[in-house]
Amino acid sequence: MPDDGRYLSGPRHVAIIMDGNGRWAERRGRPRLFGHHAGARRVREVVEACPDLGVKYLTIFAFSTENWKRTQIEVAGLMSLFRSYIKREAMALKEKNVRVRFIGDRPGLDHKLQAQMDELEAMTEHCDSVNLTIALNYGGRDEVARATKRLAQDVAAGRLDPEAIDEETLPRYLDTRVLPDPDLVIRTSGEARISNFLLWQSAYAEYEFIDTLWPDFTRDVFAGLVGNYAGRDRRFGGVKA
Ligand code: IPE
Ligand code: IPE
Ligand code: MG
Repeated sequence: MPDDGRYLSGPRHVAIIMDGNGRWAERRGRPRLFGHHAGARRVREVVEACPDLGVKYLTIFAFSTENWKRTQIEVAGLMSLFRSYIKREAMALKEKNVRVRFIGDRPGLDHKLQAQMDELEAMTEHCDSVNLTIALNYGGRDEVARATKRLAQDVAAGRLDPEAIDEETLPRYLDTRVLPDPDLVIRTSGEARISNFLLWQSAYAEYEFIDTLWPDFTRDVFAGLVGNYAGRDRRFGGVKA
């Protein structure tokens, strides 16, 4: 982080809905998977930009619980892309001191992919430059449902008093339990919706919806959005100080 104070009011946690890979490929007359591969290659530049921008937590939406509705070819291609991404990037992430975590419904994924995810998490456990969280088979409603199930089990087992449940309780059961809430949520590709991403956690996030398609998202675009954030007035329901 620069010590001239430039980014002191920047976002600590940025979450990105990486959208537009399919359209990027279609515009080039190529199959959708070509766009997904181009999109995956963008991730490294964005992760590497984080320390300079003062972004300590970066969470990226890679595959939603709704994305299984796509064709079998696209889904299989994406799953194989995730496996090759982990294989290819693991060492570089560790060397860059990036701690990787995954959120989402893991048991719903292929066993080999799950094993690679566990391994990458364990391998980067002691890294502390950037916290990269990859949302894979993730849906906000699914996450809340799974959390509620575990919470109910704790109540049934007498470990949790229903009277003691407040706003701090549910987040302890969410996949994101160790992460701060996102300060800034970015969505690329011109769609202005959140598509089931971090529903609970983004209650007070700032949003940026930009037209750039994800494979065209550069460090400069990222830096520009982080810069805009500093000018925002976050009131959290109060009045301007
Ligand atoms: C986002 O790009 C990546 C995933 C959802 C896996 P899309 O595949 O949704 O691209 P568009 O929205 O069709 O252009
Ligand atoms: C959201 O994008 C999910 C990811 C970026 C992984 P989608 O392209 O799946 O969202 P919708 O279908 O446009 O809402
Ligand atoms: Mg899309």
